[in-house]
Amino acid sequence: MKMGVYLLPSPAFLAVLFVSFVTLSVHPEPALAITRHYKFDVVLQNVTRLCKTRSTVTVNGKFPGPRIVAREGDRLLIKVVNHVQNNISIHWHGIRQLRSGWADGPAYITQCPIQTGQSYVYNYTIVGQRGTLWWHAHISWLRSTIYGPLIILPKLGTPYPFAKPYKEVPLIFGEWFNADPEAIINQAMQTGGGPNVSDAYTINGFPGPLYNCSAQDTFKMKVKAGKTYLLRLINAALNDELFFSIANHTLTVVDVDAVYVKPFDTETLLIAPGQTTNVLLKTKPRHPNAKFFMSARPYVTGQGTFDNSTVAGILEYEESPETIQSSHSPKKLPIYKPSLPPLNDTSFATNFTSKLRSLASAEFPANVPQKFDRQFFFTVGLGTNPCSKNKTCQGPNGTMFAASVSNVSFVMPTKALLQAHHFGQSKGVYSLNFPTSPLVPFNYTGTPPNNTMVSNGTKLVVLPFNTSVELIMQDTSILGAESHPLHLHGFNFFVVGQGFGNFDPKKDPGNFNLVDPVERNTVGVPSGGWVAIRFLADNPGVWFMHCHLEVHTSWGLKMAWVVLDGKLPNQKLFPPPADLPKC
Ligand code: C2O
Repeated sequence: MKMGVYLLPSPAFLAVLFVSFVTLSVHPEPALAITRHYKFDVVLQNVTRLCKTRSTVTVNGKFPGPRIVAREGDRLLIKVVNHVQNNISIHWHGIRQLRSGWADGPAYITQCPIQTGQSYVYNYTIVGQRGTLWWHAHISWLRSTIYGPLIILPKLGTPYPFAKPYKEVPLIFGEWFNADPEAIINQAMQTGGGPNVSDAYTINGFPGPLYNCSAQDTFKMKVKAGKTYLLRLINAALNDELFFSIANHTLTVVDVDAVYVKPFDTETLLIAPGQTTNVLLKTKPRHPNAKFFMSARPYVTGQGTFDNSTVAGILEYEESPETIQSSHSPKKLPIYKPSLPPLNDTSFATNFTSKLRSLASAEFPANVPQKFDRQFFFTVGLGTNPCSKNKTCQGPNGTMFAASVSNVSFVMPTKALLQAHHFGQSKGVYSLNFPTSPLVPFNYTGTPPNNTMVSNGTKLVVLPFNTSVELIMQDTSILGAESHPLHLHGFNFFVVGQGFGNFDPKKDPGNFNLVDPVERNTVGVPSGGWVAIRFLADNPGVWFMHCHLEVHTSWGLKMAWVVLDGKLPNQKLFPPPADLPKC
C-alpha cells in the first residue's frame, strides 16, 4: 500500500488538494469520491511498556494500529486477514453503514468472527460524515490493543466551519495491561468477580513519565508558536471515562463523534470510551521557555476498583532561531502540569456535557426528530447472576456480577443476528420481545431492591423502516449508580435531555432541546440519572447498542435493534457479501 494513504497530511496528499482547488475554480463540480484500499494483517507482536514485554494481538504489528484516512463520500475496502489464534472482528465505530450492516463488525451481531487463517473485506461508503471516528476489534477484550483512528476529511472544496488548522494530530487514549487482557476477562467471567484494572493509561500507546520505568515511552508533540492545531481526541480506553487537559492552554471544542458543534472554550474536557472530540489548540504567540504536560486521568462514579493513575504526554515548542541564539542554557526547561478535576467530579461532567450543542447551521443542520412514533424507556445498570452449584463466586455476596438493559442481561448468540434476520432464521437465535419499558417498575435511583438478579436472554426490538424513536435510558442504583457511556451502532442520535434521579414523564419532556441538541453515537447516561435521545430508524439492519465500558458489555449491558427494510429499493439492506465469515 502507498504511504500517502497513511500520512496526514502527506506532501502527495497536499498536492492533490492543491490541484483540486485549482481545477475547482474552473469546473465547479465536486471532485469524485474514490475507493481506498487498506490491508489489516492481524498478527502477534511483542510490545514493551512499563518495562514489561507482552505478546500482543495487533494490526500490522502496530500498537496502536494504523490510521485510516478518507474523505466524506469515499468508499473503503479494508481486507482483514487473521493470522492469530483468536477469532477477530473489527468495528468502524461511528460509521453509519447505510445499508451496509454486513461491514459493521460486532462479532455475532452483524457477522461471525473471522477465524484463524481466514479473511474478510469490510466494504462501506462514508455518507454524510466528516470528522474523527475510530476502529477497534469487537470481540471479547481484543480492542485493548486492536484500535486506531479513522479520520474523515471533508469533501474537497468544503472547508471546515472554523479556521483551517496549521496541522492535525490524532491523540488516542488507551489502557495498557501488563497481563494479557484476554486472560483477565476470561478469569473474571469464570469467577464472577470484577476484572483486574489496567496498569496505565496511554496517549498514542505511550504511558508517559508519571509511571515507573516509562519516561522513554512518552508521547511528545512538537509545536510552533502562534499556530492553530486540530487535535483529534479519541477515547479507546476499555473501562474509563477520562478528563483531559493541557497545562496553561485553552482548548476550543469544535466537533464530537464526527459532528460539528457550536465552538466553546474549555481548560479541561471529559471524554467517554467510544467518544471522539476535535479541539483547536492555539499555541502561545511567542516561544515559552517551558514544556507542558497533556494529561488524562479517569472520571469514576462507580464503587469498584479502578486504575487511578495519570497519563501524560508533552507539548513541546520548537525553538525559533532567535531563542536558540539568545539562550545560553537551553534544554532544561520547567514543566507545567495541568490541574485535573477530582476523580468523582460529576458537577464538572454535567457542566461540560451541557455545553455541547449541535452547530445547527444552514450547511450542517440538526435534523432533530420533532415528534416520535415509538417511545422506549430502558434501565441500564448492574445486577447479579446466581453462582452455580458447587462453585464459589467472587461477585457481590458470593454471586456473579452481571449487567443489563431493562433487567435483561444479553446472552451472546452463537450465530450472527444479522444473517439470522436476513435469511428469516431467527428461531432459536433471538426473540423480538425486548421490553419497551421495565417489566417491574421500581425507584430506580433510590434504595436498591433486595433482589438484584437479572434475567438472561437474546431479546431484540423490531422497528419498521423510518420509525422515529425516543429512548429514555435510566441509570439504576443497583450495586451503585454509575455513569454508562451507551453506544448505538448504525445511527447518530440527538441528546434531547438529561437529568438526575428518576425520569419524570410529566415534567422532563417539557425541557427537551429539539433545536440544537448535540448529535453523537455514544452518550454518557449520568450516574444516578437519565438521558433522552431521539433517532430516525432510516438504516435497515441489526444494530447493537451497549455500554462502551468493556466490563459492563462483558456482563451483558447490551441489546440490539432490528430495523426492517423500507419499500423502496434504496431502503433495503444490501445482500450479504460472498466472503462473509461463517460461524
Ligand atoms: Cu466502539 Cu460496539 O463499539
